Amino acid sequence: MTLAFVLTVPASEAELASDALWTLGVAAVEERTAPEHGDHAGLEDHFVELWTSLGTDVGAVARAAESFSSRWRWRTVEVDPTVVESWRSHAVPSWVDRELVIVPAWRSVDVPGSVVRVDIDPGAAFGLGDHPTTVLSLRLLKEVWWPGATVLDVGCGSGVLGIVAARFGSPYVEAIDISVAAIEATTANAERNDVAGVVTASTRPLADVTEPFDIVVANLLAPVVVDLATDLRRVVAPSGALIVSGVLSERHDHVVEALSPMRVVRTMTRESWAALLARH
Ligand SMILES: C[S@@+](CC[C@H](N)C(=O)[O-])C[C@H]1O[C@@H](n2cnc3c(N)ncnc32)[C@H](O)[C@@H]1O
Repeated sequence: MTLAFVLTVPASEAELASDALWTLGVAAVEERTAPEHGDHAGLEDHFVELWTSLGTDVGAVARAAESFSSRWRWRTVEVDPTVVESWRSHAVPSWVDRELVIVPAWRSVDVPGSVVRVDIDPGAAFGLGDHPTTVLSLRLLKEVWWPGATVLDVGCGSGVLGIVAARFGSPYVEAIDISVAAIEATTANAERNDVAGVVTASTRPLADVTEPFDIVVANLLAPVVVDLATDLRRVVAPSGALIVSGVLSERHDHVVEALSPMRVVRTMTRESWAALLARH
């Protein structure tokens, strides 16, 4: 059996809660109508349940719950892993542009030889490559990448961003995450894409990274970016680039401020999300 994480929230906050789950690193979120009983009965706003798999990572459950609004209730439920994994049969390749595609590793897809194809199995981590924040991060990465650029992927999830950089030809990519499941997924995906010799994945905290990187990508939730801003700025080489995503397109002034004195020189948006490119 595996653990499902069930978050019950007012329907009006479902999108916000779903975004919060995505940015915590879940692979899929399913929305269901909450049963009309218990704590929520008689309240005006109706409630929905967001079901997601957190595998057996109980630490992830605790972390998830800490950052949530007190209006949101959560519980864990033991479920058959095959039910939780049903999203896999609906997964499709994500075309970042005409030259780069992220393919669910279990899908057999024909892709022209001229296209950079990266096969990803997120396992219990975030990052099939299709979330708007990931697509935006990949587009900015492609724009700023240059041969020889070293890359630090902060909050690597499945490793998709760092692995794409390695496939472009980066000589060294470091991928870090607080989740052990993310490190396992990144290591497996690096092997799957023949870049295991280039990508190093670990739970090393950003605060312990001392060497500068040419390109730093950080697809994290806005409050996490703000918390880590000083260290993010510190690890970007003087002529390097910092790509930040996981921030809302309508509300990220505080993130721009936190990154200062680095300057945001480009902003890309998709759906309600934004990715920012900052330079010293
Ligand atoms: C939105 S996912 C991004 C995954 C992947 N980079 C992508 O773009 O698809 C955010 C990841 O950041 C990780 N994370 C959250 N807080 C972190 C922190 N303080 N340091 C490092 N990683 C963190 C989460 O565990 C999760 O895997």
